[in-house]
Amino acid sequence: MDPQRESLTGFGAGKVILLGEHSVVYGHPALAGPLSYGVTARGVSSKRCQLALPGTLSRAQKALLTGAFQRAANLCGTPGVKVTMESELPLSMGLGSSAALSVACSRVLLKAAGRKDAPAEVAKLALEMEQEFHGTPSGVDHTTSAEQQLILYKRLPNQSSGRARAVKSPRPLKVLVALVGQRSPTKKTVAALRERQARWPARYGRLFQQIGTVATEGAKAVEAGDLEGLGDAMNVNQGLLAALGLSSPPLEQMVYQLRGLGALGAKLTGAGGDGGAVIGLFLEPEPAVAKLLKLGVRCFSSQLAGPRAL
Ligand code: MEV
Repeated sequence: MDPQRESLTGFGAGKVILLGEHSVVYGHPALAGPLSYGVTARGVSSKRCQLALPGTLSRAQKALLTGAFQRAANLCGTPGVKVTMESELPLSMGLGSSAALSVACSRVLLKAAGRKDAPAEVAKLALEMEQEFHGTPSGVDHTTSAEQQLILYKRLPNQSSGRARAVKSPRPLKVLVALVGQRSPTKKTVAALRERQARWPARYGRLFQQIGTVATEGAKAVEAGDLEGLGDAMNVNQGLLAALGLSSPPLEQMVYQLRGLGALGAKLTGAGGDGGAVIGLFLEPEPAVAKLLKLGVRCFSSQLAGPRAL
């Protein structure tokens, strides 16, 4: 590690999927953007390449994190750095916390190895870690976090990587993110959907196809500055996710609450299931955030913007 840069920092943004979760696993496009909240990793010179973990974690959690870190570290030539991490994201709530952690860590490892932390390099390392956490994810989470911009992402067949195209919005894109219900492990929700899809492939294939089309239409609406068009695409996407069996009463209730508060569109984001995150697209989310916080709802607003300065 370069002694002149004794302290290294890397940020990994959390993400929201505006359109196309789950169908992205089956090769259809998804529109996703980075949150202004995420995970920050810090590295200091050390004899060994190591990840410092808080004592509050269980043995299994520590083993998982260490295994993932080791995979990325090996690809970087195990530079002499000790990495610590701080997260602003809730775990397993659909906001890409593991991908953000993987990206933050990868940035510090690359810098410690004297390599550039360009998005493609970061994504390659972060994928190693994500595979340890999730097996075979579509790759949309860590790619969005590494790219730090709104993207239309399409998975390559049978791979956890894909093609991402930047989607430029002429208007600020602001979302309210609300956390509801019990967290649902993504792996479980994805696996249960796969069983239904295997049993009724034509029916489920049609729904995935529809969601992919809505995601592409939503990206075009963003580029045209048509936020009402994007909001409508989100509402239709929510209906299709419910048809796939991925919504639940607490998620639906929040979707309707956000629409009642003036959201241009609202839907679950991430894996869905018994609980997780719901997003609403707002021109100005702050009044709705203030109302929901008063009602005891865990929520915050974020612009889906570019890189965050550290
Ligand atoms: C999770 O953030 C998104 C899912 O589509 C799973 C994946 O893409 O791997 C549910």
